[in-house]
Amino acid sequence: MLNKHYLKEMEASILYLDASNKAHNLGYNGCAKYFLEMSKEESHHARKVVKFINKRGRILEQPEIKFTIEGEELADIFSNIMDLEIEVMANLVALSKTSIDSGDEAAESFLDEMIKEQIDGVDEATINYKKCLIAKENGDLLGFDEYIKQLA
Ligand SMILES: [Fe+2]
Repeated sequence: MLNKHYLKEMEASILYLDASNKAHNLGYNGCAKYFLEMSKEESHHARKVVKFINKRGRILEQPEIKFTIEGEELADIFSNIMDLEIEVMANLVALSKTSIDSGDEAAESFLDEMIKEQIDGVDEATINYKKCLIAKENGDLLGFDEYIKQLA
């Protein structure tokens, strides 16, 4: 179970890279920079999971992963990023439940920490998406791009 989660984090890292490329092509350099930073953070999460798996002497599993984020417009990209973060959260919560059910306290406490961090991730992605929608409606996506840039 947990040994599949590292690839979920790698998938998030790859999707953030793709989002960065798309945002750059749309002319939003601030968002491109922010997505690059987020990609780094996600690969850091993946390494954290693998380190934990290594300590426990387990073998990594290789499930399928996605390589592209869907969406042509900036708001679609942010919407898909929000869904991605929610999906990662659901994965962590399911893993936590399994570790509790199986009495695996080490995994439970490791996942608790990851869930705490993921709450912030979901919150940030949700706020960004909402701000993007507001900016789109106000015709101020370049202002939004500047805002996102300072989060990077
Ligand atoms: Fe993550």
